[in-house]
Amino acid sequence: MFKLAPSILSADFYRLGEQIREVMEAGADELHIDVMDGVFVPCISFGMPVIKSIRKNCPMYFDVHLMITEPIRYLEEFAKLGADGLTVHCEACSELGKTVEKMKQLGVKAGVALKPATPISAIYEVAMQLDRVLVMTVEPGFGGQKLIPECVTKVKELEAYRKKTGASFDIQVDGGIVTDNVKAVHEAGAEVFVAGTAIFGGDIRQNVLSFKEEITRAD
Ligand code: DX5
Ligand code: ZN
Repeated sequence: MFKLAPSILSADFYRLGEQIREVMEAGADELHIDVMDGVFVPCISFGMPVIKSIRKNCPMYFDVHLMITEPIRYLEEFAKLGADGLTVHCEACSELGKTVEKMKQLGVKAGVALKPATPISAIYEVAMQLDRVLVMTVEPGFGGQKLIPECVTKVKELEAYRKKTGASFDIQVDGGIVTDNVKAVHEAGAEVFVAGTAIFGGDIRQNVLSFKEEITRAD
């Protein structure tokens, strides 16, 4: 399994609909939607009204990455808006178990994300309930950063843990993913690749195709 999830954080918001259609038609698997609250991370990105508008016009899988403090407060709203998967940061939840339980109750795919400095042990208590673990390969908050190599080691650790426990979550990576490093990160154990700048900077269709080609070769 190998999935590409373009992050619209790097899109041109004046042409958002058009650019989403481009990634979809070029064969991207999921749409990665970064919600930032200006508290958990320094930036504020976008929120409910944007998701509502694109949901009406786009049938893709919506992978919503919540970089917000105490996301449990908003899970129901995001689910109602049509998120297919929600990913919360373990560092942002005072009660991770309850937060994951809530996502499961809402019938969305449940994901937990780890900042670069957070060890994989932070997800052990909920690992068997998770559909996805997101290993951040940069500090969350901004697109266009370089991948931190130590985070790839963390992907390997997580893959070993998954094997040992028989957990069924997929491993997603986000931050600094480019066609040149996707193979190595895949070999480390990741299957779902978020890419912002590498997709929306330049020829979108061509970028998606290049990723897909690289991915097929690595698979
Ligand atoms: C960063 C976001 C990412 C971001 C990735 O906090 O979670 O999804 O859009 O951007 P690139 O691919 O440019 O590093
Ligand atoms: Zn993201």
